[in-house]
Amino acid sequence: MLLNTILNTAWLAGSAAALSIPAQLQLADTAVDRYDILSKDSDFVFDFNTATLPMANRKSFPALVGTNIALAVNPIDPCSMASLHIHPRSAEIFVVLAGTIDTEMIPEGGVLTAPSDDGTVTPRVIHTTLHANQTTIFPQGSFHAQFNNQCTPALAVAAFSSDDPGAALVLPQALDQSPDEWVLNSFGEGAVTKEELERFRAKVPRGAFFDVRECRERCGLA
Ligand SMILES: *[C@@H]1O[C@H](CO)[C@@H](O)[C@H](O)[C@H]1NC(C)=O
Repeated sequence: MLLNTILNTAWLAGSAAALSIPAQLQLADTAVDRYDILSKDSDFVFDFNTATLPMANRKSFPALVGTNIALAVNPIDPCSMASLHIHPRSAEIFVVLAGTIDTEMIPEGGVLTAPSDDGTVTPRVIHTTLHANQTTIFPQGSFHAQFNNQCTPALAVAAFSSDDPGAALVLPQALDQSPDEWVLNSFGEGAVTKEELERFRAKVPRGAFFDVRECRERCGLA
């Protein structure tokens, strides 16, 4: 019903083009009908050389709609670290093509399936150091981070099992919880003051990548 209303509104507005290309592709009757919407051969090319964001997903590269795949090409600067994050709808396979990247992956803790006697989860953190041509995986929903702890640039490619993998940054988004009491209580009663929380919030990097000062000093980049 709602969908009909939206479509009729688009029709009355004069064209189905009111819908984005990915939306039109999503609504196509069959996969074959999608080829009419992607009528140019160039619709099947995504150029990482000129892309605003080096991420080919259903929005930036509509030909991916319905394929359940996406791809990112990540040049990672010396001393640059990806913020701990998750992809809510996708597993990731991550391959280093040049340089060396340290990775960290924190899988689900099993709190709902096999808690130990005192109710805590068994911690597991998987570290890897990947050189060129080595790959690792990050299961859907796992926490993970990548770090170029070297003084030379690295290049990595990440492939995803969704055309809309999405991403959520763990620390900045957790610290932004409201009201403050929820964050403070989550740290453990009395562990962190309101002032300290404000300081964390002001300092925590908000971007997907940030520079690590110790590494930059070691590399003479600071
Ligand atoms: C990666 O592996 C491929 C296939 O074995 C090889 O051709 C290529 O030279 C390797 N790249 C590096 C940087 O070692």
